[in-house]
Amino acid sequence: MISQDTISSIFDAAIIEDIIGEFVHLKKSGSSYKGLSPWSNEKTPSFFVIPSKGIYKDFSSGKGGNVVSFLMEHEKMSYPEALRWLAAKYNIEIDEDKPTEEQMQERSERENLSLVSDFAHRYFQQQLHETEDGRAIGLSYFIERGFRDDIITKFQLGYCPDNWDAMTQAALEAGYNLKYLEKTGLTRLRDGVPYDFFRGRVMFPIHNVSGKIIAFAGRTLKAEKDIAKYFNSPESELYNKSNVLFGLHLAKNSIVKNNNCFLVEGYTDVISLHQAGIENVVASSGTSLTEGQIRQIRRYTLNVTILYDGDSAGIKASFRGIDMILKEGLNVRVVLFPDGDDPDSFAKKHSSAEIQEFIDQYAKDFIRFKTSLLIEEAGNDPVKRAALIRGIVDSIALIPDGIQRSVYVQECSHLLNMQENVLIAELNKSLAAGLKKMTREELPLLDEIPADGIPVAEPESGGSFYHQEKDFIRILLSYGEKNIDIPVQIEEGKTELHAISVAEYLIGSLEQDDLELQDPIYSRILKEYVEFVGREEIPETKKFTLHSDEGIATETSNILANRYHLSDNWTVKHGVYPEIEEMLLRKASKDCVFRLKLRKVLQLLSEIDNAMKNEAEEEKIEALLHEKIILNKAKMELSKYFGSAVLY
Ligand code: CTP
Ligand code: MN
Repeated sequence: MISQDTISSIFDAAIIEDIIGEFVHLKKSGSSYKGLSPWSNEKTPSFFVIPSKGIYKDFSSGKGGNVVSFLMEHEKMSYPEALRWLAAKYNIEIDEDKPTEEQMQERSERENLSLVSDFAHRYFQQQLHETEDGRAIGLSYFIERGFRDDIITKFQLGYCPDNWDAMTQAALEAGYNLKYLEKTGLTRLRDGVPYDFFRGRVMFPIHNVSGKIIAFAGRTLKAEKDIAKYFNSPESELYNKSNVLFGLHLAKNSIVKNNNCFLVEGYTDVISLHQAGIENVVASSGTSLTEGQIRQIRRYTLNVTILYDGDSAGIKASFRGIDMILKEGLNVRVVLFPDGDDPDSFAKKHSSAEIQEFIDQYAKDFIRFKTSLLIEEAGNDPVKRAALIRGIVDSIALIPDGIQRSVYVQECSHLLNMQENVLIAELNKSLAAGLKKMTREELPLLDEIPADGIPVAEPESGGSFYHQEKDFIRILLSYGEKNIDIPVQIEEGKTELHAISVAEYLIGSLEQDDLELQDPIYSRILKEYVEFVGREEIPETKKFTLHSDEGIATETSNILANRYHLSDNWTVKHGVYPEIEEMLLRKASKDCVFRLKLRKVLQLLSEIDNAMKNEAEEEKIEALLHEKIILNKAKMELSKYFGSAVLY
């Protein structure tokens, strides 16, 4: 048990913005700091650290607390682990009673797995440096590969002796439990007899972002093809492979500093680049990249440069992974090393400056890279060319930012030597398919901001849709080009936030439910607007306020001018109101779409009521009733959204 005194000195010493800053890229903002939430996929920061209060608050997930609870939440540390971690960082000696047998048992599974891994980690390093076999076999292998001493130490490389169960026996003697040795995969059983899984291999420890050992990779020293080159630790409570990037704990500061992350395939690529002085590099460890891994990178930068060896089969296989990176809103560039070289071998032959120069010179934007590679392949074959265009357009459609998309469309139309609008038509198909998958969920951040002062017309019974439609057009014209985060269903039960423009959202939502505007002027405005969007363009408001059609010009001028005269309360007088609405843009957009939907539902319901009055046929009444039930359900859902059950 850690004493209360120690705990308070740890809290006194810990600087919350520094600690959290190791895991989340923070920017100073007044007296607090903000950054992108590490628990969601947001594009605008809603994660705050408030040093004066010693707390953090993440509006997008609702999480919050002090520095210790951050480590517990983010790094999955237990309470004592978090305290120990901080104590080690600030050189605070822990005044602690020896754990009793009972306390040992109470330790969490993860803590036990972690302790066993730490033991093995020390053991492997000690074997490498201090035993005859370790030096003759392991260390000399690394040296032969050209790894310098300081790099071997930096990556904490090790060696597992080829002695059947030497490591396991040493661990058991030191008091570690076989159960945990097995769960970490360090020890295996054959006919009930334990043996070392990694025996005879050189060891690459794998760390989490905070530098804790969570797994190992062991490379064979044998050249036989039928032996797996690497053995890797199995997944456990400690090691969730899909969230881990090799080398991230050593790379994160440099990634932030360079605002770029190099992504390579292998452990040795990372190590050799470090040796050459390039530290902003991580490895996906051979497997295809996962979303979890991309999110890890996103915390530190939005720019990824993928370093490939020159074999093109491997490159094509990785396209899917790259599409995933694009979808996360990251900018992807690609560097191809000369034939036969991977980053590891290239780094060995060149100085740090030469490598940097090579990368600067040859880094290609991914879309451009993909396009030129596929052009080469398709040649003049029309079928292949059609497939190629679809492939490229699908990649472009994934990019959340509309402006960036249109730049790519322009460029690719040059590269492909084809008309821009053909590409745009394809792109729109792809975008529409994506939009269909959208779901409507609330973003907690926006819900927490009180919606006072948002002047949206209340739904009224009967009458026209005039007010709802007016508000729809007002938001479309005022904010069409702004981006909002919308949850998109990527698979059953799993959604992700994607930034799309307000215009895309509004138009897509109407299309999704086959809704049309009834007011003739508004519907003309919308129609023209949709044509612009079809050309990947967001029209200036001037296009409408100065329109040749007088009705459109007058109406839109009124709408946009009225925006500032909706109420004369304090916020409006001080010009704060439009900013509030902008902050609440997602909610405002959604409100106006939902109001239109609610109006539509109410209208259909009243039509059904009328029809039922005049209907005599049993069967038809039955059908109308059925429809009514469905519409009533929709009405309830929508009313619930507006927080009122009394909407007729
Ligand atoms: N890998 C793996 N298991 C294998 C082979 C490869 O996990 N049997 C992963 C490792 O993360 C490896 C990466 O894929 O680092 C790239 O594989 P490769 O290029 O074959 O390995 P290198 O790390 O380059 O090893 P070396 O340079 O020693 O051949
Ligand atoms: Mn290699």
